[in-house]
Amino acid sequence: MTMRMRKLGRTDIDVSVCCLGTMTYGQQNTEQEGHAQMDYALERGINFFDTAELYSIPPMAETYGNTEQVIGSWFKKNGNRDKVVLASKITGRSSVINWMRGEKPVLTRIVKEQIDQAVEQSLQRLQTDYIDLYQLHWPDRKAAIFGEKMSESDWQAERETFDAQLNALEEHVQKGNIRHLGLSNESPYGVMKFLQASEKGGTSRVASIQNAFNLLNREFETALEEVCRYEDVSLLAYSPLAQGVLTGKYRDGALPIGSRKQLFNRLQRYEGPIAEKALNAYLDLALELEVDPTQLAIRFCDTRPYMGSTIIGSTTMEQLKICIDAFDLEWSEVMEDCVNAIHQVQPNPCP
Ligand SMILES: NC(=O)c1ccc[n+]([C@@H]2O[C@H](COP(=O)([O-])OP(=O)(O)OC[C@H]3O[C@@H](n4cnc5c(N)ncnc54)[C@H](OP(=O)(O)O)[C@@H]3O)[C@@H](O)[C@H]2O)c1
Repeated sequence: MTMRMRKLGRTDIDVSVCCLGTMTYGQQNTEQEGHAQMDYALERGINFFDTAELYSIPPMAETYGNTEQVIGSWFKKNGNRDKVVLASKITGRSSVINWMRGEKPVLTRIVKEQIDQAVEQSLQRLQTDYIDLYQLHWPDRKAAIFGEKMSESDWQAERETFDAQLNALEEHVQKGNIRHLGLSNESPYGVMKFLQASEKGGTSRVASIQNAFNLLNREFETALEEVCRYEDVSLLAYSPLAQGVLTGKYRDGALPIGSRKQLFNRLQRYEGPIAEKALNAYLDLALELEVDPTQLAIRFCDTRPYMGSTIIGSTTMEQLKICIDAFDLEWSEVMEDCVNAIHQVQPNPCP
């Protein structure tokens, strides 16, 4: 079927409902494999690619920027920059990822000096002179992200103002380096503050929010849905398969060779007894309905009325095909009722 399109926030940009995630290119996937994935995605009508200066994943001083380079060499080889709505990201505040801004360790921040450096370097690696959607990967302020809790001292930590971040980013919008702004791993508080600051300051309005969203984590519906629907901020759902967990490949302790969990063991966010109970209920449902659990999970995201685009990730061409085909799965009332029933018993086990 033809790939469906949706408007990105209040912009005039149409993006495919399936966005191609790229964070495995340059580490788990070679440059050649990345190029093959992008060729295939474009053929299937996907015009929206998501990357970040930080990628490839897992983050390392030796590999950051690799994914943007793979995308850049693909643009150069094919001369098709105009066929893609390209989203990238500036890294948020981190004292651990302190190797991105020069020889010496530096606290990574979203402040003017670091924004200028990050934009310039992303453009170079991507071999382009503009990024369609420039997202703040996670906030400059200390915030409860990736399922973590805030300590008392976190609340007191220095943070850049929303105005200052927008003013620094606006310079790049005016120069044509960036077309639109987006947020990621943000809260309702953060989205509203950015919207208020841009209204007051006459700077660009954020068009989107890229947050984790899947059957095991529907936290978006708690408070962000209201903000985003009334304010036309598009949700870009990342990890629709809970990093592969929702495919069922790790069920009952299985550990397939070459899988993300086997290679990097970084899936703790989606593990634990409560998560497992909910996961098994969704996997049993897929068995009962005779649908691929991967496709059930992806199409669940796609059918939410507030969804902008669902960001898929694949490490093989076979996976990529299954993930893209998921957007054509017929979503029945039974599916809707059953996933909601499981969610009611065990809401958001993996925030
Ligand atoms: N803003 C953020 O903080 C943030 C965070 C995470 C991701 N993202 C974005 O979202 C994109 C997708 O995230 P994600 O990779 O976590 O998404 P995901 O859909 O939850 O997981 C994708 C992974 O699941 C496995 N998989 C996919 N299809 C499969 C299939 N049919 N059968 C078995 N395994 C399958 C593959 O991993 P293995 O083959 O290695 O097992 C694949 O890399 C990223 O590329 C990135 O652009 C953003």
